[in-house]
Amino acid sequence: MSKLVINGGNRLFGEVSIHGAKNSVLPILAATVLCNGNSIIHNCPKLSDVNASLNILRHLGCNCSFKNNTVTIDTNEIRCSRIPDSLMLKMRSSVIFLGAILGRCGNAVISSPGGCELGPRPIDLHISALKRLGAKVTESHGLIEFNAPKGLNGANINLSFASVGATENIILASSTAKGVTIIHNAAKEPEICDLADFLNSCGARIFGAGTDVITIYGVDSLKCCEHTVIPDRIAAATYMAATAITGGEITLKNVMPSHLTAINSVFEEAGCQIKYAEKSIIVKAPQRLSRVSIVRTAIYPGFPTDAGPLILAMLTKARGTSIMVENIFENRFRYIDELKRLGVNVRVEGRVAIVEGVDSLSGAACKCTDLRGGAALVVAALAAQGVTVVGDTHHIKRGYENIAERLSLLGADIKEI
Ligand code: EPZ
Repeated sequence: MSKLVINGGNRLFGEVSIHGAKNSVLPILAATVLCNGNSIIHNCPKLSDVNASLNILRHLGCNCSFKNNTVTIDTNEIRCSRIPDSLMLKMRSSVIFLGAILGRCGNAVISSPGGCELGPRPIDLHISALKRLGAKVTESHGLIEFNAPKGLNGANINLSFASVGATENIILASSTAKGVTIIHNAAKEPEICDLADFLNSCGARIFGAGTDVITIYGVDSLKCCEHTVIPDRIAAATYMAATAITGGEITLKNVMPSHLTAINSVFEEAGCQIKYAEKSIIVKAPQRLSRVSIVRTAIYPGFPTDAGPLILAMLTKARGTSIMVENIFENRFRYIDELKRLGVNVRVEGRVAIVEGVDSLSGAACKCTDLRGGAALVVAALAAQGVTVVGDTHHIKRGYENIAERLSLLGADIKEI
């Protein structure tokens, strides 16, 4: 198990290029199953979740190659419609393959997803939506089987919660269904738009992505295409938080500032100066951050739950008391117990975290509880006095490409052992 050893106190300066979005490339890799032939995906980040997705595609019978952030997937020989338990349990978000496999094969079998570090991750919205599209669903021995031998039929679907994954699965399953599907209360995340752009380049007819009503006119088949994945807005927020807590100044390249509006306003309230260009952002931190009165996580375009841990970590050394309210995942605050080892003063009351800024943090041994919680430990460690050893960094590798290398290029004293 690799660890990160961080000697805190260095201010970050320089330039960092932001990799492609994990939560965009995963549904797009699944979407290639709907196309026959070779799909080419550029700006694909080197992440363990991407490797897990490529292994699922290989298990289904696809040929996949991954070179210099470009993935080529040949889906001509798909022969199986079951996601192996080992891979399903390894990456909960592999449920996103469901809609594509069902749309391509008329059948799909997944193991009922366990929870994840963030709490129970039910898929009831996915199941009820696919039933609305005509799939017969049976559950036994921990497996869930979806059958639609005569194909799927378009339907009106109203999501009780604007679930990102459920919205993506409905788009994937209905792209080649017969008739029209309308999703009401759809998720509006930029990753949904990127998936719709990919599918429309393949010949799908999807309208309204990015709004809460998405209309999909089913087409007979999809052809392969070439696509470049959007930048990862949460990775961008991570490098911004690392800069803010260390009092540095960096330029982020290959970002889409319009995806970061809710995040940027929090950094500005904390005292950072933010300047935007078309595809870059400059962040200049004050000597010491000010508290942010309250941050509420919400569905897009609200403040993203995934950026919560990074912002909380940065505010542990701010002047004053900040409050964070987590409205999406139950166990999102699990990482705070590990953060406390570095001397933070945070009280958790249910979904509310009260962050009393302290004058200094001290390095300690700690371990990642989940992807973004792990990144939060790194952010805090960069500004802690002394050495921090972060364990279980496999969580971080799920969503960050070469984080140690990129941070050391910005001046951090960080090594992977
Ligand atoms: C996506 O997860 C992201 N993952 C998450 O990032 C992100 O935090 C989340 O959206 C919210 O933005 C990917 O895109 C791969 P949801 P997803 O369905 O689709 C409940 C990361 O590691 N729910 O919007 O699982 C669910 O329990 C991850 O980067 C149901 O109740 O999120 C949760 O409380 C962390 N029933 C809430 O909705 C369902 O059928 C949000 O879930 C589905 C979801």
